[in-house]
Parts: sequence; C-alpha cells; structure tokens
Amino acid sequence: MDHFLYKAGALHAEDVPVPEIAASVGTPFYCYSAATLTRHYRLFDEALDGLDHLVCYAMKSNSNQAILKLMAGLGAGMDVVSGGEYLRAKAAGVPGERIVFSGVGKTGEEMRLALEGGIRQFNVESEPELVLLSQVAEAMGATAPITIRVNPDVDARTHEKIATGKAENKFGIPISRAREVYAQAAALPGIEVIGIDVHIGSQLTELDPFEQAYLKVADLTKQLRADGHTIRRLDLGGGLGIPYERSNTAPPLPTEYGALIKRTVGDLGCEIEIEPGRLISGNAGILVTEVIYVKSGEGRDFLIVDAAMNDLIRPAMYGAWHDIVPVAEPAAGVERQPFDIVGPVCETGDTFAKARPMPPVQAGALVAFRSAGAYGAVMSSEYNTRPLIPEVLVHEHQFAVIRARPSFEEIINRDSVPSWL
Ligand code: LLP
Repeated sequence: MDHFLYKAGALHAEDVPVPEIAASVGTPFYCYSAATLTRHYRLFDEALDGLDHLVCYAMKSNSNQAILKLMAGLGAGMDVVSGGEYLRAKAAGVPGERIVFSGVGKTGEEMRLALEGGIRQFNVESEPELVLLSQVAEAMGATAPITIRVNPDVDARTHEKIATGKAENKFGIPISRAREVYAQAAALPGIEVIGIDVHIGSQLTELDPFEQAYLKVADLTKQLRADGHTIRRLDLGGGLGIPYERSNTAPPLPTEYGALIKRTVGDLGCEIEIEPGRLISGNAGILVTEVIYVKSGEGRDFLIVDAAMNDLIRPAMYGAWHDIVPVAEPAAGVERQPFDIVGPVCETGDTFAKARPMPPVQAGALVAFRSAGAYGAVMSSEYNTRPLIPEVLVHEHQFAVIRARPSFEEIINRDSVPSWL
C-alpha cells in the first residue's frame, strides 16, 4: 500500500494534489511520500520483532538527505557502498555504529574514512580487500570489524543485471572457500571477525532463493563456530521485490520474509541485519511528467512526455515495467488505447512503455510513473543537457523541494575550458 491515490478527481500524494506540486515546481519531478517510506521501514522492523536486529536501509536506492534523515529518525541503520554514501549518511546524522559498508571495490581511502568516522562493520568481498583493510586499519592503530560476504551460488531468479548470488557473479567469495578465508582473516592484524554477510540480488519475487541462501549461511555459521570463530552477526542483504505491475504481480510480504528469517537463522543467537532498499523507497515515489505531444505514427501512436531515459533509466536499462497513470482520474469504464510512451532523448532506447493501454490523454496532461522512488533519481544523469529533475517530499498536507532543479547556467559553469583553448 502507498499514499498515491485519486481523490476528488486528481492523483494525490498523501493530502497534496499532484497538480499543485506540478504548478509550483514544474515538470518533470520526483515526488516521495513520507508516510509510505515510514510505513515500509516499519514493516521490516516489525517483521523482525523478537530478534535482535537492525534494518540498514540500502541508501543506493534513494540517498536524498531528507530521505536519509527521515530513515535515521525512525532508527534505521544504513548500508553504504562508497565513501560518498558514507559521508551522506553521516551528514544526515546517522552514527557510524549504524553504518555498514558493502561493495566489491572499496578503496584504501574509503576504508580510512570509515575507520576514522566510525563504522559498524565492513562487509568484505575478497581476499585482496581483506589484506588491504588489515593494512589500513593497522597503520591507523584501529580494528576493523568485519563480516565476509559469501556467494552461496543460488539463482535469485531475477533480471540478470541485478542477480548477485551465482558463482559467476563478481560478488563475495565462494561459500565453498569460506572456512579458508575466515582462517586467513582471523590471523590478520587490525581485523575482528564478527559475522557473515550474504546478498543474492535485487527485485526477488519469490522467497525460495532467500531460503536456500539463508540455510547455507546457517550451516556455515555452525561450521565457523566449530572452527573457533565468533559469529555473532548475520547480514542477510536486501532484495525483496515490489509489485511494479500491480495488476499481475504480488511478491512476498515483509512479514513472510521475516518469518523465513526466523525459521532459517533465528535460532543461532545472532544479531540480524537486513539491507532493504527498493521495498522501502520504490513505491514511496512517483515521477510526474507532462505530455508534450500526442503523435500518430505508422500503425502506432506515441505519447511524447517531458521526462526521459536520463531521468528514469530503468525501462531502457533493464526493460523494466512501471505502471503509468494519468494524474487526472479517468472516468470509470473509459476506453483505453495503446500508446508508446517515450521521452525526447535522441535514442530509440528512450522508450518507457510500448503499446501501453491508456485512457484518452491530451498534450499538456500530467502522467505519473509509479514505483519510481527507488533507483530513479539516484541513477539519473544530465544526458542531452537535461537538468537533473527536482525531488519533492510530501508529508500529509505539506510538501517541500528536497533537491532543486539546477539552472542551465549552473550546469554549463560546471565545465571549465583550459586557458590554451
Ligand atoms: N545490499 C546490497 C549489497 C546490494 O547490492 C543491494 C542492491 C541492496 C542491499 C539493496 O537491494 P534492494 O533491497 O533494493 O533490492 N538499479 C537496479 C537495482 C540494483 C540493486 C543493486 N544492489 C534497479 O533499478 O533495479
């Protein structure tokens, strides 16, 4: 459930009519609902009730400072994957002991930054990373708490670009070699082994792959303990999917996911961390765009909108589906007609949807892409010198711009021309 509903003939974000925001900030823009973000965070938190746990929001999905501040206020930890994300989390007031550092290519500089500012744990993904972390920590006279990310060789049955738990993926160390690498870690200075990390992919729509992975982690916990390691924390990653196509998908709920965690690893006496991103922020956001032209083509009609692939790249990059709805509520039973919904960028890939049944829409009408709160604004670019679009946060009847649209002047002045030109 989210808080984008039709009321009095217009799509609302909580209690604010979307056309009112459009009139104030211009199109296109992202719009997020604070109530939805809060609700989704709490669903996870409550699903793990009874376990010692921390929900570490995967801020890569949406890392606006206002969103992070809201999450931090709810008690969330953060999963970060770069020095930049670490600094964003700190800037939003998240204490170091609530920040976990994931990622396959951490640099020595990023390690130093986190050790200096405080870190809950590093999720180490390879032996060379382990060695570098040991050197960095030792040189600083610090100790780095770590888990090792194991690759359980499980098929997450999701899009190939976001599956991470198969043996051929670049992530983690093969679970078959885990005992060896834990032995190596235990012998290194500046390293304190505290647990195990696993993350098998994103937008998972079934529980079975999680179950397979977590059972393997449970076995490994027992083996490593028998080898003499202290395993007191399990980071189970993120990945629970959302219903992008509401009319025909219903992924498992956080309560079912929580029950699965309890069933598979709940009796090991470990502190449990999860790193959900998409399920918290995805359906908490929409992208609002205006139809520039309705164009008739050869055997098909196009809605040319003022948002483009640079604003929301998921359809171009993953062939992703987003529900697209008119902001003015269509009359009940109105006839729908297929449209290709496309942006102005000069690439055929700039297509959001093909032959999408839409009620009658005129140029100047507003339409909203649903489920755009995760991996939307964070993956946007200024391709075609299209300014990054504003982000707006709604809370009940109020809204605020939480990232403003840059001016063309700001964009152009970011470049510098060498004196010899
Ligand atoms: N933890 C780790 C280590 C991750 O790599 C990810 C996502 C997450 C947690 C959060 O996963 P989530 O709960 O959001 O599924 N840009 C793609 C998604 C990339 C996901 C990358 N890693 C998309 O738009 O679908």
